[in-house]
Amino acid sequence: MNLDADLSPTAGPLLVTGAHGQLGTHVLEAAALRGIEIIGVDRADADITDEHQMQALFDDLHPSAVIHCAAYTNVDGAEADREAAFRINGEGSRLIAQLCHETGAHLVAVSTDYVFPGTHPEGYAEHDLTGPINVYGESKLAGECAIRDVLGEDAAIARTAWLFSAQAPNFVQTIAKAARERDVLDVVDDQHGNPTWCGHLAEALLTLAVERIGGTHHLVGQPTATWRDLAQAVVDELGVECEVRPTTSEAFVRPAKRAACSILRVTNPQTPEMGDWREGVRASLQDEVPVG
Ligand SMILES: NC(=O)c1ccc[n+]([C@@H]2O[C@H](COP(=O)([O-])OP(=O)(O)OC[C@H]3O[C@@H](n4cnc5c(N)ncnc54)[C@H](OP(=O)(O)O)[C@@H]3O)[C@@H](O)[C@H]2O)c1
Repeated sequence: MNLDADLSPTAGPLLVTGAHGQLGTHVLEAAALRGIEIIGVDRADADITDEHQMQALFDDLHPSAVIHCAAYTNVDGAEADREAAFRINGEGSRLIAQLCHETGAHLVAVSTDYVFPGTHPEGYAEHDLTGPINVYGESKLAGECAIRDVLGEDAAIARTAWLFSAQAPNFVQTIAKAARERDVLDVVDDQHGNPTWCGHLAEALLTLAVERIGGTHHLVGQPTATWRDLAQAVVDELGVECEVRPTTSEAFVRPAKRAACSILRVTNPQTPEMGDWREGVRASLQDEVPVG
C-alpha cells in the first residue's frame, strides 16, 4: 500500500510499457486470457523518458497498476551508448515511479540478474549485495535505485534472466534456426543462470500487479542451466541431428562482460511461483513467430 501518496487504488486498467517487446507481448496475452483489463503502450505511443507524454498517458488512463517492461535491452550496445542506457533504464524508470507515486498506481518494474557481479557459485538472493559488471547492469541498477527512492518497498522490483519466447530474436529461436541448418553448434558452457519463459513470467507479473505486492522478487525459470544446456534442450525438442558442443566464454568474447554465475535464488515468501523452463522451450517452438 502506498501510504505517502495517500490515495486509494484507482479502478483503472493495468498499463504495460514496452508492450511490443518480447515480454510485453506475453503480458498482454496473459491478461487477455485472464479477463484483466489492460492497455499496452510502446515508444510510438509514449516515450518513457518524455515527461509530458507520460503525464498525458497517466491523465488519460488512470492506471491502477503499471507493469514496466520497457527498457534499453541491448547488453552489448550499452557499452558504447551509456547515455541512452541510463536515460531509459534509470531516468525513464524514475519518471514512471514518480507518476505512480502521484496517482497511487502500483508499480511492478522488471529488472535483471545483471545487477549482480555473477561471481558467487551459489547465485544471489533478493537482498544480496549488487555490483554490476557491465553498463546495462549498471543502468538497470540505477532504475531499481530510482524506484526505491520514490516508492520504497511499495513497488515490486521483479528481477528475471535469460528470457525467451516464440517471438524471435532470442537465444532459443536463434539456436532453433541454427540447429536446423547445421550439424554442429558450439555453445558456451561456463555461464550458469536461469532460463526463463516469458509465458511463466507474464503470469507472475500479473499476480504482483493485481495483488499489489511490493518488495524484491526473483522471477526465473527452474532448474538452473548453462547456455549449452538450454541449446541442447532446443535440439532435443526439435528432434534434429545436431551436436551441441561445449565451449567457453573466452572463446566467445562479446563487448559487454558476462557473469560466470548469475543464478537468482528465491527466498521471498511472497514471490509467485514460476515454472520449469523446459515447458517454455516446448511452447516457444510450437508457437514460433519469425522475425519481421
Ligand atoms: N531479454 C532478456 O533476456 C532479459 C533478461 C533480464 C531482464 N530483462 C528485462 O525484461 C524487460 C523486457 O525485456 P524484453 O526482452 O521484452 O525487451 P525488448 O523485447 O527489447 O522490449 C523492450 C521494449 O521497450 C521499448 N522501449 C525502449 N525504449 C523505450 C522508450 N524510451 N520509451 C518507450 N518504450 C521503449 C522497446 O521499443 P523499441 O523497439 O522501439 O526500442 C521495446 O518494445 C526489460 O526490462 C529487460 O531489461 C530482459
